[in-house]
Amino acid sequence: MSDIFTEISVNGDISRLIINKYNPVIKYNFKAKNKKIEKGKIKINGIELTISGKNGTLEIKKPLDIEEHILGLGEKPFELERRRTKLTMWNSEPSGYTVYTDPIYSSTPFFISVDKNKKTGIFVNYPGKVTFDFGVSDYGNTTITVDNTGAEIFVITKSSIKDIIKEFTMLTGKPFQIPDWALGHTISRYSYFPEEKVIEVLKNYKESVKVDCVYLDIDYMNGYRLFEWDKNRFNNPTDMIKKIHKLGSKTVTIIDPSIKLDQNYESFKDGLGNYCETDSGELYSEKMWPGRSVYPDFFNKNAREWWGKKIKRWVSNYDIDGIWLDMNEPTVFNERRTFDKDVIHKLDDGRKLHHDEVHNAYPLMEAMATKEALGKDSFVLSRAGYPGIQKYAAMWSGDTKSSWEDMKIQIPLLLSMSISGMPYVGCDIGGFIGRSDPELLSRYYQMCSLFPIFRNHKDKGYNDQEIYNIETKYAQRIKKAIETRYNFIKYIKSLAAESSKYGTPIIRPLFYEFEDDENTYHINDQYMLGSKILFAPILERGATGRDVYIPNGNWVDKDTRKSFKGPGYIHLDSDMPIFIRENGDKINGYDN
Ligand code: NOJ
Repeated sequence: MSDIFTEISVNGDISRLIINKYNPVIKYNFKAKNKKIEKGKIKINGIELTISGKNGTLEIKKPLDIEEHILGLGEKPFELERRRTKLTMWNSEPSGYTVYTDPIYSSTPFFISVDKNKKTGIFVNYPGKVTFDFGVSDYGNTTITVDNTGAEIFVITKSSIKDIIKEFTMLTGKPFQIPDWALGHTISRYSYFPEEKVIEVLKNYKESVKVDCVYLDIDYMNGYRLFEWDKNRFNNPTDMIKKIHKLGSKTVTIIDPSIKLDQNYESFKDGLGNYCETDSGELYSEKMWPGRSVYPDFFNKNAREWWGKKIKRWVSNYDIDGIWLDMNEPTVFNERRTFDKDVIHKLDDGRKLHHDEVHNAYPLMEAMATKEALGKDSFVLSRAGYPGIQKYAAMWSGDTKSSWEDMKIQIPLLLSMSISGMPYVGCDIGGFIGRSDPELLSRYYQMCSLFPIFRNHKDKGYNDQEIYNIETKYAQRIKKAIETRYNFIKYIKSLAAESSKYGTPIIRPLFYEFEDDENTYHINDQYMLGSKILFAPILERGATGRDVYIPNGNWVDKDTRKSFKGPGYIHLDSDMPIFIRENGDKINGYDN
């Protein structure tokens, strides 16, 4: 244990620990001051950390109090409270996930501890594997295991949860400014084709509800070759996109990181030199949608520039409005489901690191290359991520299942992402895998109606989810949910603007606004939109109302105008229980 050296520097409310001279792969905005070296046990602002090392790994222990709340850690299909869970940071593609699947696509090794009045944020900046065990194997301790001999750790101490999140996004970067249309009602399918079908779907929708954007999934490509249309299905993409725009919608195309290994494929050839290689200097190739493929080394500036040019040309040639980055954990079709261990990445500073040491940051570097090429007003949606991704992309939660239980877990999953620095989040309305009956779909629509990203998406081979394919009773409920969304759109936009300045979440767990109310830490089936709207969606089959937890203050039922005083539970018969906080202020753009 004596071989652990920690360099500590303090800057205001953030302290940085560099363990064993670790040189971070991803560098954040921190100006080191007052450096000092310590060994073993460390105390920072009353936070005690014991650091030790064995077999090439690091172990960091922090006492865990029986009353302590552990929050954050991004995208996990678990309840908001992380105490007594063991969670792994390793971007993975689980081929569909359910409640308590871990890990899934994105990794955010950052948590907030709320212990009596003490609020602490801890961010372990190591983009390889990290596990967080909150009192499962060692009851009285949080144990963090880093799969490396060194790491960078930030400790943030503040007086409120809100301030910890603000500070975390000061460090990792403020969210990009999301275009308005990306916050509207959007549709997708794996996959809408040919081009006539895309137009027909949009025309059908136009009869009843607004669609701000249509996402095109992988079948638009020519044999899954990036930057090429399948000419049989999309013979005149320029004209199709013109028509889409005329219908009042935008177009987003999916892009995977896999480049087909094919000597006759132009993009493969002109990217040579920018792809990942193995230890022995050979081009790394592995199967993905297009068959054997190669993968850009996004950690390298030249590769990012090459990719940026390709993306920019693709978007401007066809007037495409945004890019949807998928399979970027990265996922490949081998046994590991990701790059082999002997893949190396050539960092801008000249270092060559094995894939496992940088794995979780691959999507961050891809999103950076994409967004920086597209410029300020562009839109990127990403499946995987690492802290900082909020500067470049919005995220959705991947391949959910069409069940009531899987629908419900999306609330704490997306709220946890929101308090972990990523405000622009959403899930596939209806659930991606499996059949969604009309009742489930309509409740899904309602639940998602105040989520920042509001997109209907479905896997191949399952039912159609377009409103005009749904029986009237449920179609009416869906229509109303979409209308409710647009009633709040100005408020959502103003919250997004606030987010891009301060990193504040758009949707919020109740404890974000009411951190002194112990009950709020257990509420996983309600959420707030900003500080003024409380939403308690109906999440049970056959239900016509539900119990709702009303936090402190006066709250007005949006539909009946009846006022309720919290804190406490009420039972309400309502199809879509939404409450407006009565605190004198007007809600931007909403007529209350
Ligand atoms: C996996 C994505 O999660 C899903 O949304 C998409 O439809 C398929 N890949 C096909 O591209």
